[in-house]
Amino acid sequence: MNVIVVKNDVEGGKKAADMIREGVKNGAKVLGLATGSTPVEMYKNLIASDVDFTKMTSVNLDEYVGLAPDNDQSYHYFMQDNLFNKKPFAKSYVPNGLAEDSDAEAARYNKVIADNPIDIQVLGLGRNGHIGFNEPGSPVDAQTRKVALTESTIEANSRNFEHEEDVPKYAYSMGIGSIMKSQNIILMAWGAEKADAVKGMIEGPVTPDLPASILQKKDNVTVIIDEAAASKL
Ligand code: GLP
Repeated sequence: MNVIVVKNDVEGGKKAADMIREGVKNGAKVLGLATGSTPVEMYKNLIASDVDFTKMTSVNLDEYVGLAPDNDQSYHYFMQDNLFNKKPFAKSYVPNGLAEDSDAEAARYNKVIADNPIDIQVLGLGRNGHIGFNEPGSPVDAQTRKVALTESTIEANSRNFEHEEDVPKYAYSMGIGSIMKSQNIILMAWGAEKADAVKGMIEGPVTPDLPASILQKKDNVTVIIDEAAASKL
């Protein structure tokens, strides 16, 4: 793991965007993208840059079950709003939160990932160490599937919803097995509330109890964290 400590999310988002632009310059064709507050600065920097995604493909990590693409809490909507409206890709994939058959949706998405091997995967980090929506205990070889969210994640994500009971209880998430197949990974984390997860991810044992710790086993992983998130290292 290449660990880069920056002052704050503004500096970190710029660093991550520079890495993506460098990757695109070097021939990356498929980006794996993430939602949440963490990558927002990176997306702002990409929008402000001259990077061109119009011949590329994006594959998103996850989506809430039950939310339509035009629901402003959906990850579809987030991606439109934070990136795709300004920097479109030739093709962008996000799991379909309204799919009626969850097994069929998982299989469809796994084919998308198999057909579009990810050159650079962007990740955030849950307070409990989750990546995507791979919560503690998730099998390390898992592919895309419907997952139940933990109480801690529902509580953390409720800040984006009017009421905590509005937060969906399930999501589709790319699995850790698929994430680990990406050529390169850039994981970002900001703030003191991520410090425990960051410490476990970098210094702790590799354990399903802290899903991001599996990244210790992979080459080409860059972790960009701010001083607060690095404070327990
Ligand atoms: C969410 C998402 C993750 C994200 C994480 C952190 O549950 N599924 O992909 O990385 O939580 O969110 P945030 O960036 O808002 O702190």
